[in-house]
Amino acid sequence: MAPQPKPADDARPALADKALLTTGADYWGTHEVPALGVRRLRLSDGPHGLRVQDDDNPDHLGLGRSLPATCFPPAVTLASTWDPDLILSVGEALGREARFRGVDVVLGPGIEIKRSPLCGRNFEYYSEDPLLTGRLAAAMVRGIQSQGVAACLKHFACNTQETDRLRVSADVDERPLREIYLLAFELTIRDGHPWALMSAYNRINDVPASQNPWLLTRVLRDEWGFDGVVVSDWGAVSDPVAALEAGVDLRMPGQPQDTRVRDALADGSLDEKVLDRVAERLALLARRTQASARPAEVDVEAHHQVTRRAAAQGAVLLHNDANLLPLDPGTVGSVAVIGELARTPRYQGAGSSAVNPTRVVPALDALRGRLAGVASVGFAPGYTVTAEEGNDDLVAEAVRLAGTSDLAILFLGLPPAYEAEGRDRTTIDLPDAQIDLIRAVASANPRTVVALSNGSAVTTATWRDEVGAIVEFWLTGQAHGDSVADVLLGEVNPSGKLPETVPLRLEDTSSYLDFPGESGHVRHGEGIFVGYRWFDARRLEVDYPFGHGLSYTSFGYSDLDIAVHEADDLEALTVSVTLTNTGPRAGAEVVQVYVGDRSGVLLMPQRELRGFAKVRLEPGASQQVGIAIRRDDLEHYHPEVGWVFTGGPMEVSVGSSSRDIRLHGTVEVPGHPVEIPLTIWSPLGDWLGHPVAGPALRALIDARGGITGRLGDLLSSEVSANSALGSPIASVTQFPGFPVSIEEAEDVLNRL
Ligand code: BGC
Repeated sequence: MAPQPKPADDARPALADKALLTTGADYWGTHEVPALGVRRLRLSDGPHGLRVQDDDNPDHLGLGRSLPATCFPPAVTLASTWDPDLILSVGEALGREARFRGVDVVLGPGIEIKRSPLCGRNFEYYSEDPLLTGRLAAAMVRGIQSQGVAACLKHFACNTQETDRLRVSADVDERPLREIYLLAFELTIRDGHPWALMSAYNRINDVPASQNPWLLTRVLRDEWGFDGVVVSDWGAVSDPVAALEAGVDLRMPGQPQDTRVRDALADGSLDEKVLDRVAERLALLARRTQASARPAEVDVEAHHQVTRRAAAQGAVLLHNDANLLPLDPGTVGSVAVIGELARTPRYQGAGSSAVNPTRVVPALDALRGRLAGVASVGFAPGYTVTAEEGNDDLVAEAVRLAGTSDLAILFLGLPPAYEAEGRDRTTIDLPDAQIDLIRAVASANPRTVVALSNGSAVTTATWRDEVGAIVEFWLTGQAHGDSVADVLLGEVNPSGKLPETVPLRLEDTSSYLDFPGESGHVRHGEGIFVGYRWFDARRLEVDYPFGHGLSYTSFGYSDLDIAVHEADDLEALTVSVTLTNTGPRAGAEVVQVYVGDRSGVLLMPQRELRGFAKVRLEPGASQQVGIAIRRDDLEHYHPEVGWVFTGGPMEVSVGSSSRDIRLHGTVEVPGHPVEIPLTIWSPLGDWLGHPVAGPALRALIDARGGITGRLGDLLSSEVSANSALGSPIASVTQFPGFPVSIEEAEDVLNRL
């Protein structure tokens, strides 16, 4: 039936108001419609600090200066803590600042899966693993929302590259889409209950993510039960009516002058109910975000200390020959601090996430302050941050200083332009000028420590053996020098673990030949084999594996016990080990549990992270650590039937990284067998083995004298029987000698 035209909206003011709610009033706020329970809601970037801009000079790329706010560590560093409690405390502080500034929605956390180390925004994302991402991002969401401020997960979904980000189609099969890319969102929603989510710019299998009803309604709301507001990424919607119908509630930035929604209402092509839904969701968001009072002030120093603590916990000790670290201030004598980044730190990435910090502490200042009176600290810049080419004078000065000092600390990292919103990297190496400097300094002083500042994996393979120790500090947030000094001087014992694999070579990565795609498409041909799942399946050496991170102490693992629960229990397994601090200092270890599903039902990764716990122990102390593994966290997505856990043999590995497995065992776990629906394209063998269709088909065959001719010969030969049994019934019925027609087979199906 043709849609019935509705009266013009000036005759129905409530309708015009509802239409207004579907887009912002301006760059950062919604319209206010008290009659519908919606006040003006203010949104702000995110994700690791606030970027509240002057209303007269707004932008979405972080170009315009914003009000001072604490620059907390970006997601890459938070993820390296593997510590949900600590991330919760960062979320609380961020939420408090948002409340103070009158912000209702923080645009974050960003939870894209790191498909390639080249993605220019990897620093804003957590991990290459969906379970780790989901657990940590849920803690961030809970922290922010505990202050009466909405978290807004972004970017839904598959926004895993910056090249062509406004239109590229991520071409992904349903299994990897569900098991890897969407799972991070599903788990964060399940465990964190965010009140908002941002739809992405890119297309997924050719459908724009912001106009995709399957993604935004069927999966997000009907399957996962998300009840919050869907906000479009800034400028992601080209067809506002299609976006509304697909499930976007709020199109940003505001386009109140755009009449397309009102026109569609007026001519009846858009149902008013869609707008009622938007109004209800925005009203719910308004109620949810007014629960807490606006604080009169923010304790800026306390938040700086939150940043300091989080960044120190996120530092990953990659390598520490002969215990060069920690430095003992009492005995170190003279220290050469080398590298422009020690004086001009890089502590956050560029783009819409860039925060105007309340203060920044360079490492050089912090080290000079801490070592004053006990050791001498010399400085040489060594290189210019933005220059690719080395400078002989700067290198010579650095070498002189290193050669006359007891120890050298080289501050290295990526120039800001290497990893920024809107552009991807092309290499995982440090700039040549810095690599040359490492060689020169390390040969002048073998007691050289490298402190890295970068937002995504850089390989150390070509120079790692020349230096004594390497600490990956990632991007620390504003307390850079404080956190760096805490770790280097041993006030904090590092316990960070890599949330992404550091490859030896870019060519080894799973997306190497498919990143960033061509002609507007990027094929995710590696399927579920992303990150460590790929390196393990291909048995590739890596620079540092997923989950790796050393400590100034050491840990022993013993007494593995795996309790297997009934098929209908929410938890499938409880894995227990005894962890002992076997070294000289107090420290924390992340006990990691990986499961390799050996059921053979689908192609499976070697092992997958299924649980973890961060445990702090005094020297000599032991603790029994129990990690429960949820049954749904063991499921895989079967392309024909959906999520399944069939049970079967499961190889459980417990370790200090994905490649430092200390204990393992195999257990038989009960599950629910999968029933693949029979179709005309199912193989003959499946038909014959089916409990109902099998006997029916056999009866027909037998009544007609059996399978004869060439097909009969094939079936009776040991060599060729498998190929005949593996042929679909739609084809088998076309061979002479098979006595059942395709119509009769369809008949059997219809009677199932
Ligand atoms: C980014 C989002 C950001 C928004 C608003 C977009 O370009 O992709 O992450 O929240 O701008 O600044």
